[in-house]
Amino acid sequence: MELSNNPRELYQERIEQILDSVLLIQNPEYLSEAMRYSILGGGKRIRAILVYATGEALKTKLDTLDSAAAAIEMLHAYSLVHDDLPCMDDDDLRRGKPTTHIAFDEATAVLAGDALQTSAFELLSEPTDGICAENQLKILNILATASGVNGMVKGQAIDLAAVGKTISESELEEMHLNKTGALIKASVLMASYCNSNSDSAIAEAQRVKLADYATAIGLAFQVQDDILDIQSDTQTLGKQQGADIAAGKPTYPSIIGMEAAKKKLFNLHDKALHSLKEFGHEADLLREIADFIVKRIA
Ligand code: IPE
Ligand code: IPE
Ligand code: MG
Ligand code: MG
Ligand code: MG
Repeated sequence: MELSNNPRELYQERIEQILDSVLLIQNPEYLSEAMRYSILGGGKRIRAILVYATGEALKTKLDTLDSAAAAIEMLHAYSLVHDDLPCMDDDDLRRGKPTTHIAFDEATAVLAGDALQTSAFELLSEPTDGICAENQLKILNILATASGVNGMVKGQAIDLAAVGKTISESELEEMHLNKTGALIKASVLMASYCNSNSDSAIAEAQRVKLADYATAIGLAFQVQDDILDIQSDTQTLGKQQGADIAAGKPTYPSIIGMEAAKKKLFNLHDKALHSLKEFGHEADLLREIADFIVKRIA
């Protein structure tokens, strides 16, 4: 197999191998298989790549970032498995394959999601060379906060309550910042604590800029997800095109119109790049990710 020169692809390959080695087959086998089915062999891995790209920007040793990169992808995979359930978005296709509840059954999908979530925290709570205990606790706190009632789960609850309704643009923004933005921001913030010397003033100032960058790309990511639901196709997306309209979901194009949604996307891209202006070439991969998020077709 030829190795890629593209840093995003290299990190994609790295995280695939790490997830494969972390999620070993164990008893009961069908549950491990459902977990592996839900996370391996697909996905853009944008959250893991963000962990590594933030590590590059802060000159962090690569190995120190692996647990955070794997944990955020586990948390994300769990959120997708539950998002696709009949009681939520009721989708049959994900990453070009039948969703977990179709390939297995609903109860197994719920359990695989639950187990992926707790495995993420199990992994993060294991001691890691190069991360002091104080920062490890901070990393755990960032992921827990971003995942639950003050983050992703909150956004999902707003999303489900908004079905069939017209909501204001600020309510839509709050929904998107939580359901998608929170985990994207957590990827960047967790990486900023994957070290043992977080208490310098420079690191704190840098972290504020990185958080601004992450907030902008997190919202941009979901704006583009909404746009692609209309403008892409099922084959390219690996998930059902038109699912938002069919389900009566409020989205950026449905609330403010397609042109305004695209303008919003480009403004967020500018904002993200502006937040990185004090960083040098070490933040080029973060810049490239901002470009990718607005240009992506899947
Ligand atoms: C899909 O996320 C769900 C959203 C938060 C929009 P991704 O588009 O990152 O999904 P994968 O991981 O690449 O499949
Ligand atoms: C999903 O949002 C957000 C989470 C899974 C937390 P969507 O429902 O828009 O994601 P897709 O379009 O199904 O990937
Ligand atoms: Mg959803
Ligand atoms: Mg969905
Ligand atoms: Mg969507």
